[in-house]
Amino acid sequence: MLDPGSQVQNSIYLAGGSGWPVGPEDWEAAARAKLEQGPFDYVAGGAGSEATMRANLDAFERRRLRPRMLTGNAERDLSVEVLGLLSPAPFLLGPVGVLSIVHEEAELGVARASRATGVPMVLSSAASTSLEDVAAELGDQPAWFQLYWWGDRELAAALVDRAVAAGYRALVVTLDTLTLGWRPRDLRNGYLPFLQGEGLAQFFADPVFRARLDAQPEEDVQTASLTALAAFSNLGLTWADLAWLRERTTLPILLKGILTAEDARLALEHGADGIVVSNHGGRQVDGAVASLDALVDVRAEVGPGATVLLDGGVRRGADVLKALALGADAVLLGRLYAYGLAVGGAAGVEAVIRHLAAEVDLTLALAGGRSVRELDASLVR
Ligand code: GLV
Repeated sequence: MLDPGSQVQNSIYLAGGSGWPVGPEDWEAAARAKLEQGPFDYVAGGAGSEATMRANLDAFERRRLRPRMLTGNAERDLSVEVLGLLSPAPFLLGPVGVLSIVHEEAELGVARASRATGVPMVLSSAASTSLEDVAAELGDQPAWFQLYWWGDRELAAALVDRAVAAGYRALVVTLDTLTLGWRPRDLRNGYLPFLQGEGLAQFFADPVFRARLDAQPEEDVQTASLTALAAFSNLGLTWADLAWLRERTTLPILLKGILTAEDARLALEHGADGIVVSNHGGRQVDGAVASLDALVDVRAEVGPGATVLLDGGVRRGADVLKALALGADAVLLGRLYAYGLAVGGAAGVEAVIRHLAAEVDLTLALAGGRSVRELDASLVR
């Protein structure tokens, strides 16, 4: 479903251009031109000084590839398999919430791009489209579900059960957002989309949640939104609580937001099937360690057998290869495809995917690699 990089490149040259932005800066600029300040800043911004956002990018920039010559790699394989989930490229569409603020297609647009390319998506608990509607749009294209473990246990249980019933293949439990971080851009704009009822579709579609409301969200979105937000925060959650989730579903559970060797060890001890090294795109703990640096620590702690993914700062083909070489089994995209959605809906997301896969392939080709599954730290300096 994804063409070799040289084919993608040639067709762009032959057509006199692709009609889409090329490269992350161009996508971001095109999204900025389309969006109001509030929605753009909500996606682009981070916590505090945004030092962690910059650190994510710097950690890739600081490292260099060590290309090898004459390896005879005319045939290459970009595909990965993570906990039974196949992707034709070594990246997935990571969980990004509230996509209705960037494009009317929202998460359905992402689902369409996923189905068109075979690159799986991880649907957010904070999506603007219900998990059932996204599952219907995906058809037989497999996906994972990102779980915000609401403070309200009854609602959390209902959400897990619905994700299982709708056929999602794993739960990605985000640990780093048990409450929202301090985000100066959004505070300056006085903009929190949830207050307008955006990004709350998992609540609004939930029979347990609806049964508690005097007036349904369709009649009184303000009260429904405040009720949902009140159920969100969950800073009392502990490692011991994971046993409850483990009991509730047989789906693989990945823990997202791990940044230290200590927590990687605890994750495995508490039965996690996988770890997503992430600082939430620098949106939560300002000053936190860069994802790529944390990946090195985490992989060293858990050894080669454990499933480890990374997000944060992945913008280019070289970034993908650096992360895989340093121990990631696959990476997750975030802002990059959100900008693609903002610019062109499903077609924009698809263009982001096809361009990035082409860049991964050409960089792998020129660096002497054959399969993304075989990369190791010798590729990076
Ligand atoms: C929510 O997950 C956010 O990062 O805004």
